[in-house]
Amino acid sequence: MGKKTEFLYLNEEEMIQAGVLDYARCIDVEEEIFGLLGKDDYRMGGEKYNSHGIAMKFPKESSNPGMPIDAPDRRFMAMVGYLGGRFHIAGEKWYGSNILNPERGLPRSILMVMLNDADTCEPVALMSGNLVSSVRTGCVPGVAVRHLATKSSAVCACIGAGPVSKACFEAIRVEAKALKEVVIYDLFKEKAQAWADEITAKYGLKAWAADSLEEAVRAADIISVAASSVKPVNISNDWLKKGSLIIFTGRCNIDEDYFSSAKIIWDNPKMHDVYYDDHMLLPENERFVNGIGVQIYRMVNEGKLPPLLDQTGLGDVMVGKRPGRESDDDRICFIAGGMVIWDIGWSYEVLQNAKKLGLGTTLKLWDSPNLN
Ligand SMILES: NC(=O)c1ccc[n+]([C@@H]2O[C@H](COP(=O)([O-])OP(=O)(O)OC[C@H]3O[C@@H](n4cnc5c(N)ncnc54)[C@H](O)[C@@H]3O)[C@@H](O)[C@H]2O)c1
Repeated sequence: MGKKTEFLYLNEEEMIQAGVLDYARCIDVEEEIFGLLGKDDYRMGGEKYNSHGIAMKFPKESSNPGMPIDAPDRRFMAMVGYLGGRFHIAGEKWYGSNILNPERGLPRSILMVMLNDADTCEPVALMSGNLVSSVRTGCVPGVAVRHLATKSSAVCACIGAGPVSKACFEAIRVEAKALKEVVIYDLFKEKAQAWADEITAKYGLKAWAADSLEEAVRAADIISVAASSVKPVNISNDWLKKGSLIIFTGRCNIDEDYFSSAKIIWDNPKMHDVYYDDHMLLPENERFVNGIGVQIYRMVNEGKLPPLLDQTGLGDVMVGKRPGRESDDDRICFIAGGMVIWDIGWSYEVLQNAKKLGLGTTLKLWDSPNLN
């Protein structure tokens, strides 16, 4: 007789009851994960153990009936990892993305997280992943603000008024203790204004919609960029104040001369090094086109910046291996490409809460494995 295996299934409502929307707690958990990153106590997929994940895209055309056709943001993606420390758990985030989904009453991306026992490999939990992913994406800029922003940062600019930008703001608001004002720039001003009105009503902060990207960036101490790639976000060096922190959660370009005086801090340079390798496998005219950090990869390729593995990660700053902010005048660019270990850590934490609250449905894999 083999061993019975069961795991917990948590739907989105149960994830909410278990605290998935607790931004303040998630910032602490993500900070803990950066500490593990700084100690190399994690693994992700691929030959260098640092792959963001594997994307499945579709052809531009096909004679096969039913074959999905390529479109912006159309993909499936599998992201795998192991997180050490108190987590000691393996997991996967698996999602599909289709920009037509909102017309069907669905989110653009639909995500699931699976956690597995790192030793026996048995499933531990299968969980709705949309809120895990959006909250962790927001909370990483929260950790960046905690460690890299000046304490006096009073104005935050949010570039893009979509759900990811909103999640980033929720966490930045928690960490930017001197925050007084929020300026929002989106291609659709009415969308930016509607969100600004919500922020004022909810938090009593001054919030307004800017007429231009320049107006928003010039006003701010913290700039959070989370716009989709419809139109590139191009920022001039002289718009960015002394002491400013700019956070790339979505793609952004800054004049090259910015990087001769500003500091770049990555979520994980080793992961971006893998991305860089992937770009180098592409034909020359397709390299450094898509992706959050591609401008910097191109500058590395042209010898204008040091190799990615010689650059700084937030985990290195947290464990004291490398300096972060050294003066209130430093200008810092933090780049968050996104890592599954953030999803694994946050979903593990929510799972512990769910167990304490008796939430979820226990599913049986087997009473005794047939292939024992
Ligand atoms: N780094 C990470 O971990 C991570 C995780 C999830 C999503 N993302 C990225 O975040 C970005 C935003 O995601 P979303 O789901 O909120 O997208 P969305 O399409 O729902 O919303 C994006 C908003 O950006 C606006 N926009 C587009 N181009 C702009 C520009 N040049 N200037 C100002 N506004 C502009 C759009 O009008 C829209 O309101 C995407 O690029 C996505 O890939 C990053």
